[in-house]
Amino acid sequence: MNFIKVNTYDELSCKAAALICSQVVMKPDCVLGLATGSSPLGAYAKMAQKCKDGEVDFSRVKSINLDEYVGLDGQHDQSYRYFMNNNLFKHINIDINNTHVPNGCATDVDAECKAYDALIESVGGIDLQLLGIGLDGHIGFNEPDSYFEKTTHKVELDPSTIDANARFFASRDDVPTTAITMGMGGIMSAKKVLLIANGKGKKDIVEKAFFGPITPAVPASILQLHPDLTVIYSEN
Ligand code: GLP
Repeated sequence: MNFIKVNTYDELSCKAAALICSQVVMKPDCVLGLATGSSPLGAYAKMAQKCKDGEVDFSRVKSINLDEYVGLDGQHDQSYRYFMNNNLFKHINIDINNTHVPNGCATDVDAECKAYDALIESVGGIDLQLLGIGLDGHIGFNEPDSYFEKTTHKVELDPSTIDANARFFASRDDVPTTAITMGMGGIMSAKKVLLIANGKGKKDIVEKAFFGPITPAVPASILQLHPDLTVIYSEN
C-alpha cells in the first residue's frame, strides 16, 4: 500500500487528478471506476480543467460508477447519475454512452445487479477504481457486515450512512434507505485502487481501515489485500 498524507484538500485533489489522468494518458481506452460523495469533487474539477487545457483526452474512456440509490432516477438531483453528469461528465469529452451508473429505478433490481457485473466483465474489468470512504468504513455502499459481499447487490443503508448523507437532501426522511452497489469482487479486481479521504472526521476510520485488522465490520479494510492500492489522506 502506498499511503500518502498531504496537508490540504487541494493537494489531495491535485494528486488524485494527476493519477487518474496519467492512467488515461497511458491507456486512452481505459475503464475508470468512479465514485460520488464530496471527496472526489476537487479531483473532478481538476480533471475537467486538464481536459479543457488539452492535457488529457477522455474520448475513448469508459466509466463504471460504484453505486446508485434505489428509487432515484437520473433526473433526480441527488441521484448519483445526476451527480456524475453535472460534476464530471458534462465538463470532459467522455462519450456519455460509455458512462455507466447502476439503474436505481430498475424494475428487477436483481437482474440489474447481475447485468452490472456482466458489464464489468465485458469491458475487461476496471483499470483504476477511485473510492471515497464512509464514516463507518463503507466503500461504494458496501456497509459493515459479517461478511464481504462479492457481487453487485442491493443493500440496506446503515442508519449512520443515512445520517451522513442527509445533508444533501431536504430532510432525513427523503434519503433512500436502499441502494445498489458494486460488490467487493468488482472493486478488488480493479487493477489499481485509489482511495481518497479528507478531514479530521475521517482520521479514525482511515486508521482502522488501513492500519487495523481486515474485517467486514470495516469494509474498506479488505483493500489492504489489494496489490496496487494508493490511499491519499488529508487531515484538513
Ligand atoms: C457515499 C458514497 C460513497 C462515498 C461516501 C463518502 O455514501 N456511496 O461512495 O465514499 O458517501 O462520502 P463523502 O466523500 O461525501 O464523505
